[in-house]
Amino acid sequence: MERPAWAPRSIDISVPSVARIYDYYLGGSHNFEVDREAARKAMEFMPGLPKIMQANRAFMRRAVRFALDEGVTQFLDIGSGIPTFGNVHEVAQSARPGSRVVYVDHDPVAVTHSEAVLADNEDADVVAADLRKPHEILASPQVQRLIDLNRPVALLLVAILHFVDDTDDPHGAVAELRDALAPGSLLILTHASYEGIPLPQERSLGAVDVYKDIRNPLIMRTREEIARFFEGYDMVEPGLVPMPLWRPETAPEDEDPYAFSGFAGVGRVPRQSGRRA
Ligand SMILES: C[S@@+](CC[C@H](N)C(=O)[O-])C[C@H]1O[C@@H](n2cnc3c(N)ncnc32)[C@H](O)[C@@H]1O
Repeated sequence: MERPAWAPRSIDISVPSVARIYDYYLGGSHNFEVDREAARKAMEFMPGLPKIMQANRAFMRRAVRFALDEGVTQFLDIGSGIPTFGNVHEVAQSARPGSRVVYVDHDPVAVTHSEAVLADNEDADVVAADLRKPHEILASPQVQRLIDLNRPVALLLVAILHFVDDTDDPHGAVAELRDALAPGSLLILTHASYEGIPLPQERSLGAVDVYKDIRNPLIMRTREEIARFFEGYDMVEPGLVPMPLWRPETAPEDEDPYAFSGFAGVGRVPRQSGRRA
């Protein structure tokens, strides 16, 4: 198979990747036949999967604009994925030039393509790192250069935590990041769940199994388990809700039923607590 310029030598292009499958669902062009095959297999069980991804992206953009309205102009987006239309830096920097954005992903295609897209952007950069090692992210030269941790930061964990198993202590990683953030910082989060999927559970299980088969299991959590990621934050109204219900800009009743799968929320580091000295 021909290897395109955006596919680094280090990757095995015969194995599907979560980042490239997601790129395919969003109509991107940074994916291979193995990724499309896995995506189509999951869609045999859940035909509305792309609607979930679109609702996720739409929420992310509303939440970034909310952060800007709150005066937050620094963004740390972990699990940022392969850049596609309407990425965080585009939304933030077009509304507020000079906004600073650091993307983090452990997928080589996501990192290589982000580097290419951001080559001429002085206020944005990307780090190849893993959410499970928050200290490496915080200590990276890119974060040190672009993010002032003494001022509020919007931390995005959008559609990533459902790829981190409990044995890897995702709640611990999220708490470590929170402790590094100044008061007024925001956590912007979405997470997959069986709750809200407009199908019997056995059909969604079929789609979940596709991710298990590619050794990147999708960890479906309950609303209660997802809410625990916001420990130490004050929830911003309307709380942890299905994606189309978070500060909608269009009528939620016009949304596809699949868009209501899973949860989205924004939390704020309160004034009194914030970072440990
Ligand atoms: C479904 S995509 C979400 C992309 C983007 N956040 C969005 O919502 O549009 C999930 C991304 O998380 C990345 N990812 C998964 N586990 C990760 C980890 N432990 N550390 C860093 N990135 C991870 C994947 O490589 C992928 O690019």
